[in-house]
Amino acid sequence: MISRDCLQQSSLMAYKNVYQLLGVAFIVGLASGRALKADEDASPRIGIIGGGIGGTSTAFFLRQLYGPKLTIDVFEAQKVGGRTSLIRVNGEDYEAGGTIIHKKNIIYEFQDKGMAFTTTEDMLRAMGDDLLNMTRHTMNESLQHIGLSQRFIDEFAAAAVKDNYGQTLNAHGFLGVVSLMAVEPDLWAIQDGNKRMAELLLRESKANLIKGSVNTVALIKDNLGTGSVSYELDYTKATPGSDKETSESREYDIVVVAAPLNEGSKNKISFADFPRDVVTFKQDYHKLISMFVQGKVNTTAFDVGSQNELPAEIISIAPGCFFNSLKKMTPVSPNSKPDTPLKPEEAVWRVFFNKDPTEEEINNLFVSHSDLRLVDWWAYPEYQAGADLPPFMLYDRLYYVNAVEAAASAMETALIGGRNVALLAYNQWHGHFDKIDEVQLPSPAENEETKKSEL
Ligand SMILES: Cc1cc2nc3c(=O)[nH]c(=O)nc-3n(C[C@H](O)[C@H](O)[C@H](O)COP(=O)(O)OP(=O)(O)OC[C@H]3O[C@@H](n4cnc5c(N)ncnc54)[C@H](O)[C@@H]3O)c2cc1C
Ligand SMILES: *[C@@H]1O[C@H](CO)[C@@H](O)[C@H](O)[C@H]1NC(C)=O
Ligand SMILES: *[C@@H]1O[C@H](CO)[C@@H](O)[C@H](O)[C@H]1NC(C)=O
Ligand SMILES: *[C@@H]1O[C@H](CO)[C@@H](O)[C@H](O)[C@H]1NC(C)=O
Repeated sequence: MISRDCLQQSSLMAYKNVYQLLGVAFIVGLASGRALKADEDASPRIGIIGGGIGGTSTAFFLRQLYGPKLTIDVFEAQKVGGRTSLIRVNGEDYEAGGTIIHKKNIIYEFQDKGMAFTTTEDMLRAMGDDLLNMTRHTMNESLQHIGLSQRFIDEFAAAAVKDNYGQTLNAHGFLGVVSLMAVEPDLWAIQDGNKRMAELLLRESKANLIKGSVNTVALIKDNLGTGSVSYELDYTKATPGSDKETSESREYDIVVVAAPLNEGSKNKISFADFPRDVVTFKQDYHKLISMFVQGKVNTTAFDVGSQNELPAEIISIAPGCFFNSLKKMTPVSPNSKPDTPLKPEEAVWRVFFNKDPTEEEINNLFVSHSDLRLVDWWAYPEYQAGADLPPFMLYDRLYYVNAVEAAASAMETALIGGRNVALLAYNQWHGHFDKIDEVQLPSPAENEETKKSEL
C-alpha cells in the first residue's frame, strides 16, 4: 500500500494545462540573433558530438556566424532530439522527456551582442552575482535569503524541484529558481513534439548528420601556443539493414561535445593523446524512470471519491515515498482526437520514479491499466550546492555544451549553451577576444543605435 508518508506530505497541485502551440515561427524566432560578418577565407572543419537541442543549436548558430561555406558534421548515436523524444501510448504520442518550455532569459542580451563565456561561472556572473552565489548554497538557504517563507519553500518549492528534477531542497539555489519558473502558468511546448526543435535546427544548419557513436576524441596535432589544433574523431557506424558495425574516423579543426560527460552514459566518449586531463570535473547524472500508463488511478490511495476528482498532477515530497509525481498527460498532436474529451479512465498518466518501480507499487497506484511503458533516463545532473561548474572549453578548440546543465538542465539552457559555444568557437577562431567573458551590457543609447542600423 502507498506509505502514509507519501500521503501525509503530498502536495497536490493542479496545473492548468498550458499547451500553447507553436509552429515553425518559434524556430525562426530563435534565429533572430544578429549574424556577425563571416570571414570568407577561413572555414574550419567542425565536428559536433550529439544531436540533441544542444548539438543542433550549436550547428545552427555556427552556420549563422560562419556563413554557407563551412562544413559541419553532427554525430548522433541514437535519435536526433536526444532527451526530447516521443512515446506512443494507446495510439497517441506523448512527450517522453523534455516537456515544457519557459521563455525568459536575460542572457540573450549578451548573446545578441555576440558575447560568449568560457565557463558556466562567468556566464552566471554576467547575469548577476546573486545567481552565481545561488549555485553555492542550497535551495533551502537561497530561497530563504530572497525572502520566501519557509512554508512556501517546504511545500511549494520542494514540490517544484521534486517534479522537475526528482530532487530535494538540498539541490542548489539556482536550480530552485528555475524549478519555480517551470511551475508558472505561462509555459510552452512545440506542436507535434519538442524533438522537432532539434530536427529543424539541424535542417536549417545544413550540417551533415552522421549516424554513429563517437568513441574517442584524439588530439592529433597541437601547435602549442598558436591555438591551432587538429582532432580525430573515431566513431562506430551502424550499417543499415545489417548488424554489422564499422569503425571510421574523421579529422576536424574544432570539436564540440554536445552530450553529457556522464560516467554512466551509454555512448561514453574518451579523450586520447592530450598532454593533460581534459575532463577535470565530475558531473554525476540523476537516474529517472518515467512510466507511461493508460489506466484507472487507485482513488482510495489519494483519498478522492472518483476518477473525476483527481487533480491533473500529484507530487509527493515525502523522503520515503516511492514515486515523485503522477501527471495526466495531453498528447502532442491534439488534432488526432478532435474535441472528444477523454473519459477519466482513458487518461494517460506519466509517473516519475527515482528508482525502478515494483509491480506491487504500480498496482497500488493503478487499480487497472492497459498500455504501460517505462523509459529509463540519465535525466539531468545531481545538483549539489557548491559543486564544480564545468567549463565550456575543455582544450583549445574543444568545447562542451553540456557544461550549462550544471546551472540548470532544460531545453532552453541547452539552446543557450549551444549558442554560447558557437559564439565562443567563432570569437576564438577570429581573435575577437573582446567578446569573450566581457560582462558589460551596452548602454540603452547604444541599443537604440543597433536597432536602427538593423532596420
Ligand atoms: C524525463 C525528462 C523530463 C524533462 N523535462 C523537461 C521540461 O519539462 N522542460 C525542459 O526544458 N527540460 C526538460 N528536461 C531536460 C531537457 O530535455 C534537456 O536538458 C535537454 O533536452 C538536453 O539537450 P542536450 O542536447 O543538451 O542533450 P541530449 O538531448 O541528451 O542530447 C545529447 C545527444 O547526444 C547523443 N550522444 C551521446 N553520446 C554520443 C556519442 N558518443 N556519439 C554520438 N552521439 C552521442 C545522444 O544520443 C543524444 O541524442 C527533461 C529531461 C528529461 C530526461
Ligand atoms: C531549511 O532551513 C530551515 C531553517 O534554516 C531548517 O529548519 C530546515 O530543516 C531546512 N530544511 C531542509 C529540508 O533542509
Ligand atoms: C550568498 O547566499 C547565501 C545563502 O543564500 C547568503 O547567506 C549570502 O549572504 C549570499 N552572499 C552574497 C555575497 O550575496
Ligand atoms: C489502493 O490504495 C489503498 C491505500 O494505499 C490500498 O490499501 C489498496 O490496496 C489499493 N488498492 C488496490 C486495488 O491495490
